[in-house]
Amino acid sequence: MSNIQDKVVIITGASSGIGEATAKELAVKGAKLVLAARREDRLKKLQEEIQSNGGQAVYKVTDVTKYEQVEELAAFALKKFGTIDVLINNAGVMPHSFLYKKKVEDWDKMIDVNIKGVLYGIAAVLPTMRERKSGHIINLSSVAGHFVGAGSTVYAGTKFAVRAISEGLRKEEYANNIRTTIISPGAVDTELPSAITDMDLKPGIDEIYKGAIAADRIARAIAFAIEMPGDTAINEMIIRPTRQER
Ligand SMILES: NC(=O)c1ccc[n+]([C@@H]2O[C@H](COP(=O)([O-])OP(=O)(O)OC[C@H]3O[C@@H](n4cnc5c(N)ncnc54)[C@H](OP(=O)(O)O)[C@@H]3O)[C@@H](O)[C@H]2O)c1
Repeated sequence: MSNIQDKVVIITGASSGIGEATAKELAVKGAKLVLAARREDRLKKLQEEIQSNGGQAVYKVTDVTKYEQVEELAAFALKKFGTIDVLINNAGVMPHSFLYKKKVEDWDKMIDVNIKGVLYGIAAVLPTMRERKSGHIINLSSVAGHFVGAGSTVYAGTKFAVRAISEGLRKEEYANNIRTTIISPGAVDTELPSAITDMDLKPGIDEIYKGAIAADRIARAIAFAIEMPGDTAINEMIIRPTRQER
């Protein structure tokens, strides 16, 4: 039997891209999914698709920048399925811009979703995972969590932070049998770059994304990390298009 079968998995940012692809991949492998994002129509459609293919999924509209809502999401998962085995902190935004353009609202958004959202997710599931001495927290960083490019400064800052938080979490919780995984994708074909409004950057980004890989590649890597026997933690993976340099 797959080590994914019957695991209760919360996925934030499940309404599109990597989150949606991961939900489909894990549903086929028998996970009990709790889908979260802000766009209810997308979540409902995904839930229906999973269910019509024989999978198990519930959803809860959640804004990860609101601490109470993330706590409610964890409580919802516990109520529906009785336990939380895996949290995938996947929700993220990437409105790249040069610093001198002072797109302060975009900076705030990235910090709120990409950093605080991850921390709120960790806070919401740690008590039950610590109590059970079992769990797995998977955080989406990026190649931008390893390298900083001009124009991706704030985004890279948030993704470096995700890696730092994940490593701190590992050090604090490995003895409680809680696994941690950092997933750092390169260019993946999703809605993510559509938030970029800095037209000086857009052509360069569009060029990079011409070589983007499909979101199911990341979903399969996430499934691999979950599938590993419980005594083995895949702590970090970088997954790039073969033809991507950085
Ligand atoms: N695509 C890439 O090339 C790439 C590369 C490296 C890393 N990543 C990372 O992968 C993760 C997934 O991104 P993606 O590529 O799949 O992009 P995407 O298609 O734009 O998906 C982003 C998801 O995050 C959700 N989200 C945004 N703000 C939210 C909020 N406040 N509360 C709850 N959910 C929120 C969105 O749902 P709603 O709008 O419905 O809330 C959406 O489901 C992100 O962390 C991203 O940084 C992506």
